[in-house]
Amino acid sequence: MCGIFGYIGKKENAAEIILEGLKRLEYRGYDSWGVAVVPTEDPNKNNKIVVKKRIGKIGDANVDELPTATIGFGHTRWATHGGVTQKNAHPHLDCTKTIALIHNGIIENYDSLKKDLVSTSHRFISETDSEVAVHLIEEYLKKEAFEKSVQKAFLEFHGLNALIALHAREKKLIAVRNGSPLVVGFGNGENYIASDAAALLPHTKDVYFLEDNDMVVVSDTDVELYNVVTGKKKRITKQKLAWDVSSSELGAYPHFMLKEIHEQPGLIVDISISGISSAKKLAGIIKKAYGTYFVGCGTAAYACIAASYLFSKIAKHHINWAVGSEFSYHLDFLTNKSLVVALSQSGETMDILESIKAAKQRGARIASLVNVLGSTLYRESDYPFLIGAGPEKGVASTKAFIAKLSHLILTAYALKGAVSKGSLLLKKTSKAGKQIVTNEYVLKLKKLVQRIKNASDIYVIGRGISYPASLEAALKIKEISYIHAEGLAAGELKHGPLALVEKGTPCIVYAPLDETFGANLAGAMEMRARGGYIIGISPKPHEVFDYYLPIEDVGEASIIPGVMVAQLLAYYLTIEKGYDPDKPRNLAKSVTVK
Ligand code: G6P
Repeated sequence: MCGIFGYIGKKENAAEIILEGLKRLEYRGYDSWGVAVVPTEDPNKNNKIVVKKRIGKIGDANVDELPTATIGFGHTRWATHGGVTQKNAHPHLDCTKTIALIHNGIIENYDSLKKDLVSTSHRFISETDSEVAVHLIEEYLKKEAFEKSVQKAFLEFHGLNALIALHAREKKLIAVRNGSPLVVGFGNGENYIASDAAALLPHTKDVYFLEDNDMVVVSDTDVELYNVVTGKKKRITKQKLAWDVSSSELGAYPHFMLKEIHEQPGLIVDISISGISSAKKLAGIIKKAYGTYFVGCGTAAYACIAASYLFSKIAKHHINWAVGSEFSYHLDFLTNKSLVVALSQSGETMDILESIKAAKQRGARIASLVNVLGSTLYRESDYPFLIGAGPEKGVASTKAFIAKLSHLILTAYALKGAVSKGSLLLKKTSKAGKQIVTNEYVLKLKKLVQRIKNASDIYVIGRGISYPASLEAALKIKEISYIHAEGLAAGELKHGPLALVEKGTPCIVYAPLDETFGANLAGAMEMRARGGYIIGISPKPHEVFDYYLPIEDVGEASIIPGVMVAQLLAYYLTIEKGYDPDKPRNLAKSVTVK
């Protein structure tokens, strides 16, 4: 919740630049603020840092009394350790007032560090955990260079932290991050560090987002990057800022996948309003077409299957679907009256791009539901529609899938001429989704994870729209936890897969309260009779379920909470097994080869 802004360059009004930067971080919420600069003119040659701190909002505050300076930083504090007082506000100084520090995060072991420092005669002024950091750097500085001192101190902290330190005699800012976001902005003869890229936009769009364990040493003309753990130098790969860049940061989440799962309830509500006009437009295009084909790959393909159920059920409209890699073998009948609707998060998946190229050659029109503005699919489509999910970084697609489903539900309702009903349903669905991302629900999932983590196979069954839900649930589980998982149309069980169910085999059963309820339970019974361990995802408990995961009944939209449960289950299975959910082995986010 803290805001950080640092400047080093040639301009002598560093204090003002920093204050302006802090003001741009105001939306984060804070209770006090402070700015520290190293004076350019130091008549007493005592190398002391000058600090201004205040409680409350920055509002119309100024830093007029601060001396001219070309280096400094500021902080907006959201109190954790120690009350809201001027003393507790950052920056903090060491005993000699030659080192200043700002910090975001919590130094979990500050207590024991502080005891040691007090015993070696360090004088503490605040009650914060942060002040420990500046004294610890001061302690190391007795024997080490400034960089090394910051590195060594940082490595002693437990918890998630980001900090910037400066020394009155060194023309550099040193920043380290492990958890809390920091971004370096590259200027001309000047450089910046901020907690939030949005604060850099008035100065530069060339940035580097610090990764966990990155340490940067920033001077006015140079930025050096190191791994704080190994001390090894790293290459900086700059990025260009886009307006929505702040939404692409990890924030407090350990993984993008978890962050993206948590964003879904908010996204569904957004789409319930912002998606109405594009749903109406797409519905109009579908209505006019003579035959509509939905194509996608991976998760997007399952959204296409879901579309076929949604359009049939809600709008009584038939659509075809195909996976991108098969479509080119399947499209000989397309004409100039056909419509192809391509679904893709990245808009760069080669199989999709080839499909639409082949479809175009036959004169078909191309619409797309795509997440990345300016992507190839977006540019190549006659009717591109953005799904507005924001940057999705986890390789296993989550929020882009839910965004696509939300648009498809709205479009199906628009086709029926009842778009507001669709919008209301999405609002209800968002509430149902919120109940799944609660701590209480996660505990339930973690308990289940302990029960099934050593399974070699998991089967997922459903009928109707729960069939694509089953496919997607199995895909999420297999791609990140590496447990073999198979999604099935429940009715297909007895045509083969049932032979594989043994004592203890985890079997996930989707049982929404629609016309499939009874038949899905029958499938569950068949698996239980063979020793299967039945995990029921349903608005209603049932005695056949060995483990029950409740969802709210949201009618045709029940696939959304149903899949959200599976996303989180896959995530926690993966964490338990010690794998990285954001970067599954052998897979990529954007598949640009055939
Ligand atoms: C890859 C990703 C999947 C994604 C699929 C289609 O396989 O790992 O998460 O569903 O590509 O990607 P697209 O960008 O076209 O939606």
